[in-house]
Amino acid sequence: MAKPLNVGMIGYGFMGRAHSNAYIKVNHFFDLEHRPVLKAICARSADKAKAFAEQWGYESVETDWRKLIARKDIDAIDICVPNNFHAEIAIAASHAGKMILCEKPLSMNGPEGQKMVEAVEKTKVPNMVWYNYRRVPAVTFAKRLIDEGRLGRIFHYRAKFLQDWTISADLPQGGTALWRLDVAAAGSGVTGDLLAHCIDTALWLNGNVATVNAMTETFIRERKHNLTGKVEKVGIDDACAFLARFANGSLATFESTRYARGHKALYTFEINGEKASIAWDLHDLHRLQYFDHKDEGKLRGWRSIHVTDHGGDHPYMDKWWVPGLQIGYEHSFVHQVADFLEGIAKGKPAMPDFRDALRTQHVCDAVLNSAKTGQWSKVAGD
Ligand SMILES: NC(=O)c1ccc[n+]([C@@H]2O[C@H](COP(=O)([O-])OP(=O)(O)OC[C@H]3O[C@@H](n4cnc5c(N)ncnc54)[C@H](O)[C@@H]3O)[C@@H](O)[C@H]2O)c1
Repeated sequence: MAKPLNVGMIGYGFMGRAHSNAYIKVNHFFDLEHRPVLKAICARSADKAKAFAEQWGYESVETDWRKLIARKDIDAIDICVPNNFHAEIAIAASHAGKMILCEKPLSMNGPEGQKMVEAVEKTKVPNMVWYNYRRVPAVTFAKRLIDEGRLGRIFHYRAKFLQDWTISADLPQGGTALWRLDVAAAGSGVTGDLLAHCIDTALWLNGNVATVNAMTETFIRERKHNLTGKVEKVGIDDACAFLARFANGSLATFESTRYARGHKALYTFEINGEKASIAWDLHDLHRLQYFDHKDEGKLRGWRSIHVTDHGGDHPYMDKWWVPGLQIGYEHSFVHQVADFLEGIAKGKPAMPDFRDALRTQHVCDAVLNSAKTGQWSKVAGD
């Protein structure tokens, strides 16, 4: 019998649902020493939290996250609330000796993230940040190919994350579902929200970023604020593009916007190496495009690898159905929980932990600083 691991989740929005689904499914598909138990859901509205608890099977409800953290029957705190709450909750949870699974971005900025790292390293609580794209099998597979040296020396890294949902000037900022437009809740716009994903994947696949040169734009400068009812200045970046130099000498371009009409969540990356190239696209997340210069000339071309093979060749896939049948977005969270639980059992933390995720924070800070100053910015910590 797997040992119960009692989860207290804070926030029941998009990520609250994605994580709850992962906790429910993980032991059906992975053999693990631990089994997450949906012990308590915490949110400001008791009625909404109760409704969520009923729908997803949580045993109890809290409306004050401090009470949740103080509960003796909670082993792990899962932080699924807007970015401005991450640090306070994570630091309190670490002092209470709880394991912490924190949504991305780790923090509002590098210095705040640094305090979170210090807290978990002092209290030695297991900690992880939900950069879930690392666990999309095609992306994990890309990492394997790079680590095997199949691309050789890397010359270029190119990433984009495009959306179009904030084009209307009538869209307010702040409050439920629209906190991403409020700089006080989000910390930044597309940089911390979308580019943070691209940066995390890039650091994982291609190593540290040394310097960046960025431009940002806020296309709609004023919006009604849902919390005050007044029209207020918009403090987030609506779009951001930056150049980067990696420590390994490769050059990169990153772009993100919420103003790319027609695109909903188009996260793509391409990596060009001396021997081979790879490309991935979230809209077709089960395929990895691969070009190998070693191929016989007349047959050489981009292959589209359907990452569904079993027998250990394609990461995570032997846990699911049969070769050829694909899985989806939600499974990346199941994989992340599985790796977290395996990490606890083996005493080897699943990445990214807080310290690893802090690297992304430092890149975001350098990007925003460069956009402000118009100068190249060095990334702290590298
Ligand atoms: N890993 C990913 O791919 C991914 C995807 C989406 C969001 N996230 C991250 O997850 C966290 C939560 O995002 P989400 O999309 O689930 O948000 P959401 O708006 O869907 O849900 C937020 C939850 O926080 C609660 N909340 C507490 N204080 C709030 C406040 N002041 N304003 C608004 N809501 C408040 C809401 O009631 C709700 O339960 C964020 O840090 C976000 O960056 C990560």
